[in-house]
Amino acid sequence: MPEDLSAALAEVRDLLLDPGLTRAVAAGRRRGAEPSVVRAELRPVALKAGRRLQIVTNDGARPHTRNVAPGAEAEAAIDALLTEPFGNWHVESAGSTVQLRVTKKGDAQVHRQDSTDDGDPAPRQHDRVREHLLDPGDPLFEVIGGSAAKRRQVDAFLRALAATLPAEGLSTPLRVVDLGCGNAYLTFAAFRYLTAPVDAGGRGLDVEMVGVDVREDQRDRNTGLAERLGYTDRLRFAAGTILDAAVEPAPHLVLALHACDTATDEALHRAVGWGVEWILAAPCCHHDIAAQLRERPAPGPYQLITAQGILRERFADVLTDSLRAALLRGEGYRVDVTEFIDSAHTPRNLLLRARRTGTPTPRTEYDELVTTWQVEPRLAALLKG
Ligand SMILES: C[S@@+](CC[C@H](N)C(=O)[O-])C[C@H]1O[C@@H](n2cnc3c(N)ncnc32)[C@H](O)[C@@H]1O
Repeated sequence: MPEDLSAALAEVRDLLLDPGLTRAVAAGRRRGAEPSVVRAELRPVALKAGRRLQIVTNDGARPHTRNVAPGAEAEAAIDALLTEPFGNWHVESAGSTVQLRVTKKGDAQVHRQDSTDDGDPAPRQHDRVREHLLDPGDPLFEVIGGSAAKRRQVDAFLRALAATLPAEGLSTPLRVVDLGCGNAYLTFAAFRYLTAPVDAGGRGLDVEMVGVDVREDQRDRNTGLAERLGYTDRLRFAAGTILDAAVEPAPHLVLALHACDTATDEALHRAVGWGVEWILAAPCCHHDIAAQLRERPAPGPYQLITAQGILRERFADVLTDSLRAALLRGEGYRVDVTEFIDSAHTPRNLLLRARRTGTPTPRTEYDELVTTWQVEPRLAALLKG
């Protein structure tokens, strides 16, 4: 329901001045108007001189940071920003998240979400067991969309990510790539989780992220969403193949959720080529090895496994991911294979999780397995070069 813009901006002003503010972003533009900066981000910071409100504005060329004192100085700075014709305001506080979008008619569309249902002050992040890392009702999804099932899947993937990254010692900025990002639900969710302040349930990291997909329409759609969210100085989308898309400098972390068939092999190959620290890849359909198994007789007594189509397909899934894991170990990664979500949600629920150790494991068993089955995984062919 549209609301009066002045009243909604007054509410935003109160939230920006409230000590409970954790982060706010203003971005986008109203119809027929142009703000003097493309984006403004506000967050409280603790300096030697005391608590300050940090305001980072970006004129499209470079960021400009200033720290203003609470009181009159902060009020003046906030009032100046509120007069800018931004199209969106996103304000996160300890107890709530408010998202304001200015409609074409100049009204305000406001989404308000409390962190607690009962009106009690929101408990701090580390005082409670979180049901979600990114709540399916989070205002982010108002912008990026996504079915309830996709939101749950993305949240489950974030849990695996959260369990993978160490609490400290991460590179800054942390460079992340999502390969085969499609509609980028995971890309946006991961960006949001990694950059959100710790108090708001995130990791508080400086992140540079790229979403890669072969489809140009996906790139254009996702870029538009990133603009609406005010993320474009840190998150971009590239149209290109996983093998060739320009991603410079090399990332530290590669994500790939359900990249089709051998696109997962391409993602693993690209990740190895970059020498990334971590890989989280949830494979999708597996046709490559299944087709190779169909073409030749199974060794020894294993005909019993491959004679029936459904058994052959399931076996091909297991064989494909076992060989992928072995190849990654041979490239100096520690790998575990887990389920990131229950199989009732999706049968494609396996996750290959790899951490670079720099110490390759000999590929003896891998060699025996591919010789026995007379198969060549796509990843092996790619690694051969
Ligand atoms: C099943 S969708 C998954 C999208 C997204 N990761 C998710 O889970 O919602 C697979 C995506 O990978 C993209 N894709 C497939 N092969 C690719 C390749 N070789 N290079 C780049 N993108 C590819 C497709 O265009 C598609 O958007």
